[in-house]
Amino acid sequence: MRLDKFLADHNIGTRKEIKEYIKNGRCKINGNVAVRSDEKINENSDEISFDGNILSYSKNHYYMLYKPQGVVSATTDGKNMTVLDILADENVKGLSPAGRLDIDTEGLLLLTDDGQLIHRLLSPKKHVDKTYEVHIKKKLSDIDIKKLEDGVDIGDKKDDGSVYPTLPAKIIKKDADSEGRPVIHLIIHEGRFHQVKRMLEAVGNEVLFLKRLSMGALILDENLKPGEYRPLNDDELKSIGAIK
Ligand code: URA
Repeated sequence: MRLDKFLADHNIGTRKEIKEYIKNGRCKINGNVAVRSDEKINENSDEISFDGNILSYSKNHYYMLYKPQGVVSATTDGKNMTVLDILADENVKGLSPAGRLDIDTEGLLLLTDDGQLIHRLLSPKKHVDKTYEVHIKKKLSDIDIKKLEDGVDIGDKKDDGSVYPTLPAKIIKKDADSEGRPVIHLIIHEGRFHQVKRMLEAVGNEVLFLKRLSMGALILDENLKPGEYRPLNDDELKSIGAIK
């Protein structure tokens, strides 16, 4: 693969910036200063470093997407645009979203062709934290907060037919939004269908706007706008266990 593509995949900069960085001698291939941005490298065997940091290569692909509203978290859909349509230019086969956000929910979505990682992140046993920014219809009372934090009945049943309440959660109150609607951050450790909406319903409230801010160690990049995406950087790849 070309050196500049490799560096761009690591989110080092735009192709133009990368050309300049290489000219300035900031990139090394197997310990030798790289001179040309179109130089061919073997991403599996060459050691590439930038500003002295070795860049690891993963055969899999990992993208952070700021999922916009109106787009479905599926690989195909007869009616609506899918999150994969947004990444179509990447031409990467086998990408899937790690979990689903409702069509009217926005925020962090990881897309990858690493099936094992998806399995690890979504496994109910792993209890990966998810933080949501939730704008709601009315203020939560202290009693509601306690109920939501302790676990509420959202209508799910266990195999034996008994109530299957949500796991303990955490709520952080935030300032109201520009329309005066109360805002909370809700941290949950499960990923049940419409979970946040059903939890708020369980205490007689209603979700008016929902955005996922984080999933495990992965935090939505503030510089991304709805509909934008970028490859994960090395720190992020390490934090989710995709590279060592
Ligand atoms: N909970 C919901 O209700 N919807 C989402 O999209 C995500 C979590």
